[in-house]
Amino acid sequence: MREFVAVLDFGSQYAQLIARRIRERGVYCEILRHDIAKAELKALNPKAIVLSGGPASVIEPDHPGIDQEILDLGIPVLGICYGMQLIASILGGKLEQGHSGEYGPADIDIDIHGKLFKDLDKRINVWMSHGDQVVVPPAGFEILSRTGTCPIAAMGDFKRSLYGVQFHPEVVHTPQGMQILENFLYEVASCSNDWSMSGYINESIAAIKNMVGNSRVICGLSGGVDSSVTAALINKAIGAQMTAIFVDNGLLRSGEVEEIRHLFTNDYPLNLDIVDARRDFLDNLKGVTDPEQKRKIIGKVFIDVFYKEADRIGGADFLAQGTLYPDVIESISAKGGPSATIKSHHNVGGLPKDLKFILIEPLKELFKDEVRVLGKKLGLPDSLLSRQPFPGPGLAVRILGEVTEENLSILRNADKRVQEELSNTDIYKDIWQAFAVLLPVKTVGVMGDERTYANVVAIRAVSSMDGMTADWVKIPYDILSRISSRIINEVKGVNRVVYDISSKPPSTIEWE
Ligand code: XMP
Repeated sequence: MREFVAVLDFGSQYAQLIARRIRERGVYCEILRHDIAKAELKALNPKAIVLSGGPASVIEPDHPGIDQEILDLGIPVLGICYGMQLIASILGGKLEQGHSGEYGPADIDIDIHGKLFKDLDKRINVWMSHGDQVVVPPAGFEILSRTGTCPIAAMGDFKRSLYGVQFHPEVVHTPQGMQILENFLYEVASCSNDWSMSGYINESIAAIKNMVGNSRVICGLSGGVDSSVTAALINKAIGAQMTAIFVDNGLLRSGEVEEIRHLFTNDYPLNLDIVDARRDFLDNLKGVTDPEQKRKIIGKVFIDVFYKEADRIGGADFLAQGTLYPDVIESISAKGGPSATIKSHHNVGGLPKDLKFILIEPLKELFKDEVRVLGKKLGLPDSLLSRQPFPGPGLAVRILGEVTEENLSILRNADKRVQEELSNTDIYKDIWQAFAVLLPVKTVGVMGDERTYANVVAIRAVSSMDGMTADWVKIPYDILSRISSRIINEVKGVNRVVYDISSKPPSTIEWE
């Protein structure tokens, strides 16, 4: 059995980051609800427990807590920020409501290094973000470090292996934070470093073979990173028993079908089935302008295509999907967990309840950066692994208003110019997604001596870590200018280009 560390989530934006950092240190980690019962947690047999930060205050009534007996399990615990305050409050320490609080960089002085701060300097720079603070530690705890304004920046009960840090070791702004997490994992909790991508590939292949037996699997291939890595992994496990279905839904970008065909027949051959379903999608989208309605229709037509293709190849019991761990966490939190649901869980409209396939989701334990590592190990090209995300409903959610062949053609041509002009620039690597959006607005223009009355295209380019929050990219004016004049001169039907300068939140990345 693989060892694992449980992160109990109190709604911190950093809970996922903590889990990723722990995995990077070679220990498997999962995020669990903070109110998990002691017996349930014990049955999972975690090697260590981390209590995340969170926006609540332990001084307020009804704050989120834990089954208090978790602290008696004899399993090492690290409380981070809110997690530390919770430990202090449960075990009888004293807290003070912060009036001034501490936000940003701070230097802490380490008085007792012990196992947690082993090999660190006496004074280290950390990232603080808290209002409340612990002022008297619970019985049995030593004060390990402090700052000028924070009397207990870290505390530890060596006998019970319970630790708390007021700062955030998981963020890059705590330069030695990784060492602290590593110390907790290996010095305090004696973890054994058994999480690696090569190990994961072997485990997954065995699990897929075992699950599938002699049945057939179809895998929805979108051409994005997640579904491509899913297909490559299943292909490695069961070869041609899997059919990867790439649906040409007519909502794709310029050149995409050819790219996918070339990649998965020449460079990385697998059992590929490209289905031309353009008519089905466009007919069903006729007259539809509501964004959610578009998503629902597209989701349904996708499933219909999968059923049809499964029949055509003589039946398939399984459908593979590239669901990732953050999707799983988001679905959990949408069902009432503590993390504020910042965006609703996207996939193409969701799957029907009476789905006739059994789902295989071999990436559902992985974070995006791990999926890229996995893809690289499986031999997928970098050009694919660094592809920008593209929404399942494709250009349909970038055409505001009705999706018609004419609109698709205008948008595809405009978007192609955005990609061409940006892909060779230095700024491209900072961009999470860049694309064109066709607005349902016509404006007056003048071309030569002619008055024109034509469409407006908006350009959207954002930087982001994970798509949950995003900032608009400050693309240099000369590049914007080239994009604009190329679109207006070369794309028939467009006479105006605007640049979207909104961040997420409060805007979203896609316009629909
Ligand atoms: P938003 O627009 O919510 O987008 O800020 C965040 C990320 O999700 C992608 N996105 C989708 N992906 N189906 C998908 O598979 C969808 O319906 C969908 N809507 C948005 C978007 O491109 C961005 O990367």
